[in-house]
Amino acid sequence: MIARNGQRWLEAAARRVSRRRFEAAPRADSTLRRLEELCESLRPFGSARVLLVREAPAGLFRGIVGASGSVRGAPHCLVMVGAEDAAAEVGYVGEAAVLEATALGLGTCWVGGLFSREKADSLAALGPAERAFAVSPLGRATADNELEERLMSAVARSRSRKPLSVIAPGSGEWPAWARAGVEAARLAPSALNRQPWRFSMEGGTVLVAADSDRDTYRIPKRLDCGIAMLHFELGARGAGVPGAWRDAAGRVAAFVPASR
Ligand SMILES: Cc1cc2nc3c(=O)[nH]c(=O)nc-3n(C[C@H](O)[C@H](O)[C@H](O)COP(=O)(O)O)c2cc1C
Repeated sequence: MIARNGQRWLEAAARRVSRRRFEAAPRADSTLRRLEELCESLRPFGSARVLLVREAPAGLFRGIVGASGSVRGAPHCLVMVGAEDAAAEVGYVGEAAVLEATALGLGTCWVGGLFSREKADSLAALGPAERAFAVSPLGRATADNELEERLMSAVARSRSRKPLSVIAPGSGEWPAWARAGVEAARLAPSALNRQPWRFSMEGGTVLVAADSDRDTYRIPKRLDCGIAMLHFELGARGAGVPGAWRDAAGRVAAFVPASR
C-alpha cells in the first residue's frame, strides 16, 4: 500500500490542511470509486478500517469544539473505525485515506470531538468490539479565502508546529532517513493541534510515544500518534529507508528499518 502510494502521499502530506467548508455538489463517481477502493484495501492491521460514505447524513458534524470550528456542507464523509485498543492503528489507516483524498483534490478534516457518535456508528455497521473514533468531511472545499474559514484556521493555528527539538530531541544527530521521518511527522494533523507525539532513537529503531498518558478532549493521543506514524514512515521511505512498525514496551510503537 505504502510502496505503491508513498511518494504521492508524502507530497499530499506537505500540502494538506484541514478544510471545514464544502460545496454541496458530489464529486465525480470515478474519484470516489478510487478512494473507496483504497479504503476497502486499507487493512494493514486487522483491527482498524476506514469507510467512505457517499452521502454524509445531516447532523453528523456538531458545532464548535474548542478553538476549532464546525464543518459545513460536505456531501461525503469518511468514518475511522477500530477496536477500542486500536487507536494508533485507526490513526494510521485514517490518515492514509486522508492523504489519498488530498492527492485526489478532495478536502478533509479529522473530527474526533463533536460529531454524532450514533450516526457514525450506524454508518459503519460496527462489529461487537468496534467503535467510530473519528469522522472527516469529504468533498470539494470552498475557496481558500472564505473569510470565516481563514479566521478559523488562524484560531486553530493550523500551520504552527512544535520544533523538532521538542518532538524529536537530538534528531539533528540522527541518520538522514530518520530526520526525514520526523520532519514529515511534524506536519501531521492532531486534535486541537496538540502534537502529542514524541520520537526517540534507540539502536537502529525509532520509537514513538505520547507526551503523557492523560488524554485531553476525550480524544486518545494514540490516535494522533498513529497519524504521525504514517507520516514518519512516508518520510523515511522517501529518504530511501522502508520499514515496519512493531510493538514496543511502554511506547506506542517502534519503527524498524528493513534490512538493507
Ligand atoms: C484526531 C483528530 C481530531 C480532530 N478533531 C477536530 C474536531 O473535532 N473539530 C475540528 O474542527 N478539527 C479537528 N481536528 C483538526 C485539527 O484541529 C487540525 O488538524 C490541527 O489544528 C492542525 O491543522 P491542520 O490539519 O490544518 O494542519 C482534529 C484533528 C485530529 C487529528
